[in-house]
Amino acid sequence: MFQFVSDKRFDVAGFGTNAVDFLIEVPSYPAFNSKIELSRYAQMAGGEVASTMVGLQRLGLSTSYAGRFGSDAAGDIGIRSLADEGVDTEFAERISEASTQIAFIIVDEVSGERTVIWKRDQKLAYSPDDAPLDAARDCRILHITPHDAAACIAMAQAAKEAGAYVSIDIDNVFDGIDSLLPMVDIFVASADFPERLTGIDSLERSLAELSQTYGFRLTCATLGSQGSILLADTKIIRTPGFDVPGGCVDTTGAGDAFRAGLLYGIFSGGSLETAAASANAVAALKCRKLGARDALPSVKEVTTLLKNAGRG
Ligand SMILES: Nc1ncnc2c1ncn2[C@@H]1O[C@H](COP(=O)(O)OP(=O)(O)O)[C@@H](O)[C@H]1O
Ligand SMILES: [Mg+2]
Repeated sequence: MFQFVSDKRFDVAGFGTNAVDFLIEVPSYPAFNSKIELSRYAQMAGGEVASTMVGLQRLGLSTSYAGRFGSDAAGDIGIRSLADEGVDTEFAERISEASTQIAFIIVDEVSGERTVIWKRDQKLAYSPDDAPLDAARDCRILHITPHDAAACIAMAQAAKEAGAYVSIDIDNVFDGIDSLLPMVDIFVASADFPERLTGIDSLERSLAELSQTYGFRLTCATLGSQGSILLADTKIIRTPGFDVPGGCVDTTGAGDAFRAGLLYGIFSGGSLETAAASANAVAALKCRKLGARDALPSVKEVTTLLKNAGRG
């Protein structure tokens, strides 16, 4: 179903969000206008696309990250976190007098579910004129969040012209969506988004409608602990989630990990059922620890979980 061009430096190039997260774990989610003592807190690197690149790198793929960091201390943390993992940062930029994207994330200790409060400095925004097109030209898959839609359209065009596939991590309707989505091959959204986008009151029918309208090869929604639903042509693949080994500590970045596992599965050349199982396994393993990246697994850990769950 996927055939990759060979003469490229990177398996996957990411263009989109990076962030530095302040994670605040609480015994239970606070009521409005209340006070609560936290259990623990930590500052860690995150952001959707940057975390997906780290996930892929841990799974043995070669990645590059194109995105913007501020000139602040958080920017140092963000860039170093990628370089330390082996993600290429040639196309990462520092913007003077800009703040790195930040998130305050409240994690409920009982369920591990998180609530995200974030801010992105407008100075980090790309226009189509300064989109790093060479990053899009030198990969087999371009993975994007549509944060700066016009720049993403230019990136997707460059990727397609160079023979790469385009993968999108999408949760919001934005101006230009109808120009971008026809270039997308792999569409992965959270459970509620396909119905919001189509106005159709059924997830399966929304996925089918999107797949037909835009011509995606893979159309997928993630369903939290319930796993995922993936549509390829007319085939529907429902994949249950995995129990998190040791219990679910934090779902921050689970969606980013899922996308890393899915792209890894596609590269591995196995069946789509196996790719979907790998995606859910990578995401469940991510939930073992606080933060978007700490518990992102190796291939060996994924294989072990699949085997232990009788799904290997
Ligand atoms: N509590 C959980 N237990 C096990 N796996 C989970 C859990 N929450 C999320 N996941 C995994 O992470 C993936 C993405 O989570 P989801 O909640 O759907 O994303 P988002 O929070 O970004 O909408 C799921 O498809 C699933 O594989
Ligand atoms: Mg979730």
